[in-house]
Amino acid sequence: MEKILITGGAGYIGSHTAVALVESGYQPIIVDDFSNSEKNVLEGLKKITGQSIPCYEGDCNDRSLLEKIFSEHALAGVIHFAAYKAVGESTEKPLKYYGNNIFSLLALLETMEKFGVENLVFSSSCTVYGQPDELPVKESTPRKVAESPYGNTKKICEDILVDQVRSQAKLAAIALRYFNPIGAHPSSHIGELPIGVPSNLVPFVTQTGVGIRKELTVFGDDYNTPDGSCVRDYIHVMDLAEAHVKAISYLRGKNAPFYDLFNVGTGTGNTVLEVIQAFEKVSEQPLNYKIGPRRPGDVEKVWADTGKITRELDWHPHYTLEDSLRDSWNWQLALSKKPA
Ligand SMILES: NC(=O)c1ccc[n+]([C@@H]2O[C@H](COP(=O)([O-])OP(=O)(O)OC[C@H]3O[C@@H](n4cnc5c(N)ncnc54)[C@H](O)[C@@H]3O)[C@@H](O)[C@H]2O)c1
Repeated sequence: MEKILITGGAGYIGSHTAVALVESGYQPIIVDDFSNSEKNVLEGLKKITGQSIPCYEGDCNDRSLLEKIFSEHALAGVIHFAAYKAVGESTEKPLKYYGNNIFSLLALLETMEKFGVENLVFSSSCTVYGQPDELPVKESTPRKVAESPYGNTKKICEDILVDQVRSQAKLAAIALRYFNPIGAHPSSHIGELPIGVPSNLVPFVTQTGVGIRKELTVFGDDYNTPDGSCVRDYIHVMDLAEAHVKAISYLRGKNAPFYDLFNVGTGTGNTVLEVIQAFEKVSEQPLNYKIGPRRPGDVEKVWADTGKITRELDWHPHYTLEDSLRDSWNWQLALSKKPA
């Protein structure tokens, strides 16, 4: 079985990708410092996959740890999720974000080079597009000045990969630009952990649904969109996980140096109010929400053109918005039953 290292593999997207890798016959190996995840994720993974996924606890900036992992396993590739991702916090503590997100990529690339591991899939984000001039947004759409230090780390990391490949290094890399990941594994054994007050819509919706939050505020209903609320492209985390498996398999057929990037979204935009309606339908209860003023920094509308990933990686999303919200809701209900 080919071994794939997943940095940040105990996190939200990494853990779901571990499941998708096992289902496709790969052996995932996790490294995570648990700065934004919990160890019981590993138990959830065991329940779903029936196996204990090897996990190294530690920081991806620690080159000696990376070298230990690379010397203990012959890796066919790496998927690099490990990063800090709170947009708001990144504006308050930019050095924390630049330090972790950029240096961990550098440490990883140097270790890959040292051990002759060529294949890398990198977690990028649609945040690099800002408010695009044309919709749906294509990979060729120019990137905008980043709205936050977090967004800038994604742009810089993409640029580092491009420069490394241009230097003729033995690196075959794909950057996946995620749109808005939501949902959870349908088993409800793993999902997005509720650490702090959520800044993303869906965890806030489900926490309001279960009574942890009193009320959801919809930030603005006067945008130039069908119902005035912001539009995003919400993708089920298992569909997103599958895109990583497709990307890593695709890289196996490419010769380094190689670089490409792909949008990962559904190709459909939904408004905040549509998400609320879909949630009310699947949860069979009304949601307590109010309309508030626009939130500074919010992009009005963005959704993906997914033609490239469909054509070149043969990847298609399978889950609908309602499926995603049902899985998010069931995960929230499962969390609420767990002892604190
Ligand atoms: N969730 C989203 O909406 C979204 C959207 C676009 C891009 N991304 C990117 O996808 C990746 C994964 O996101 P996620 O939602 O799963 O986040 P997450 O916080 O749930 O997972 C990241 C994991 O990495 C770990 N980690 C962080 N720094 C580390 C380090 N230096 N060494 C070892 N482990 C470290 C954390 O403990 C966590 O388990 C991130 O790079 C993020 O920026 C996420």
